[in-house]
Order: sequence, then structure tokens, then C-alpha cells
Amino acid sequence: MLEALKGLPASSDPNLLVGFETGDDAAVYRVSDEIAVISTVDFITPPVDDPIWFGRIAAANSLSDIYAMGGHPITALNLIMFPSKKLGMETLKGIMQGGSEKVAEAGASLAGGHSVEDDEPKYGLAVTGIISPRRVLTNSGARPGDRLILTKPLGTGVLFNACRSGKLPWSDLEPILPQVAALNRIAMEHALKFDAHSCTDITGFGILGHALEMAKASSVRIEIDFSALPSYPYSIDMYSKGETTGSNKGNRQLVEDFLNISAHLSEAQFQWLFDPQTSGGLLLSVSGPRAGDLLSELRGAGLNSASMIGKVVSGSSGIVLN
Ligand code: CO
Ligand code: CO
Ligand code: CO
Repeated sequence: MLEALKGLPASSDPNLLVGFETGDDAAVYRVSDEIAVISTVDFITPPVDDPIWFGRIAAANSLSDIYAMGGHPITALNLIMFPSKKLGMETLKGIMQGGSEKVAEAGASLAGGHSVEDDEPKYGLAVTGIISPRRVLTNSGARPGDRLILTKPLGTGVLFNACRSGKLPWSDLEPILPQVAALNRIAMEHALKFDAHSCTDITGFGILGHALEMAKASSVRIEIDFSALPSYPYSIDMYSKGETTGSNKGNRQLVEDFLNISAHLSEAQFQWLFDPQTSGGLLLSVSGPRAGDLLSELRGAGLNSASMIGKVVSGSSGIVLN
């Protein structure tokens, strides 16, 4: 669907600091020398049946694009598509309760929204954030010599599907939901403290898709160490058991021409690389000498899965998986 954007004329307004051309996380518009506004919108189908967890995960996922730019969310609007005759008001209330919890945790204000009838529920937020125009964390700032840090594990896509198809019991999925629904706020604040050069969040295109966007936007080559990639429990197992997602094939096609694999991977490990994430972590590119300290701080702040997953080198834009 990104293809459809390609023919559209780019804005010529010099105050639009980040538009759609670089496939970044959100739009950034300079209002003054001190303040730029960040705009983003995202909505998803239910990853889990529990309405409150659906609301929390969808809201954290929407807020994440503000953090991925280095900003702070200030207002959020609910986007609701809901089959009110099929599912009751209690379900809708649960979704909105979960969403509003996360907006409050982010320190933002829920300020309105819009709802329409639809056959399948969908929920998310349109979020406005603020940032200093001088401190925007785009996906185009990665430099050779940087190290890459990923702040959450991978594997949500296949786990949600496996739970739905009965391959994974709810009792094995539930323990990871607080981490899935965790805001990327703490990760972003520490990244700014260590002057991260570049940032994006890992969502639907998976780790390789989003890493490739960063590599292309920054005109660098990214090397990823497969054994360093953090995974949610059972996620690779589920690929071994034949579970997959509707996005894996497309995510693979998106990167295969730019991907060089020297690591020896099982078929399940290979498939897992293309798993789409919902409310995934931040991918941070930070100068080599500072990366170790940033990682220790992130772990000290409770982000126990944060991992150093690779490095940035010069060369044609692409990914090498070792
Ligand atoms: Co994003
Ligand atoms: Co997004
Ligand atoms: Co960004």
C-alpha cells in the first residue's frame, strides 16, 4: 500500500520537517524555532479477544510513533470502528478504558474522537505530540560506527495468531501483554539523553523491514547479529508448529533484494524474522562508544529485554544478517 503514495506530490512547505517521503514514523511540522508539532494516526484489528488489553495495546501502538520521533504526546483522539449490534456496549467500554489508561500514563489528554459501524472492531488513536525542531529523531540519522539497540522482544504477530488458532493457550500469552502494551516513553527518554542519532519503532513490517527503512533513509548498511535478537517466549516455536501471519510473505518481499544472510537459520527462525510487530520496541542507532552505557541504563530502568543487536557500517543500503 506504500506504493500508492509514490505518485503523490511532496509538500514544498519548508516548515514540514518530516513528510511521507522517507517512510518515517510521523509527520513533523515546525511552528516556531522552539516548537514543532508531531502528527500520527494508527488503528488495528484486535490482537487479542480481551477488550481492555486490545485498548491498551492499540493505544500504546499509536502513541509509539510520537516516541519514535523523540517527542511527547499531548492530545489523542479515539478512532473506533465497531459492530455495535454484534458486540455489546461493555466490550466497547473495555476497549476505550484500556486506551484511556495508556493515554493517561503517557501524560496526554484524550480530547475526542470519531466512531463508525463496521463488521470487525478496529481501534487506535490520532495523536499530536510536541518536540523541539532541533531534536527530531528521524530514521535518516544512522551513521557508520553506530551500534543498534532494540528495546523490546520480537514475535507478537505469530503469538497473537497462535492464541487465536488454539496452538498457544491464553495463559502463555497473557504474561507478555504488559510488555507488549508498555509505552516506548522510557526508551525514548534515555535515547535522547545519550544523543541517539536515529530511531524508529518496530511495527507491521517487522525488524528487517523497519531496519531497512532506516538503512535506506540514512544511506548506510546495517549489520544484524541474529543471536542477539530478543524473542518473546514460544514465538519461534509457533513458526516450527506451522503458525504464521498474513504479513510474513509481504514483509519478506519488501526486504529480500536488500538482504544478505550468512547466519545458519532454521526455516522457523527465518520466518520469525518477518514477523509483524504490534506495539514493538524502538530501534535506536547510537554512537559506538556510548551504546554500552545506554544499554545498561535501559536495563536499569526495567527494559530487561533491551539488546545490542548490530551495527551500522558504510556501504550500499541494505541488511547483512550474521
Ligand atoms: Co512507526
Ligand atoms: Co505507525
Ligand atoms: Co523516528
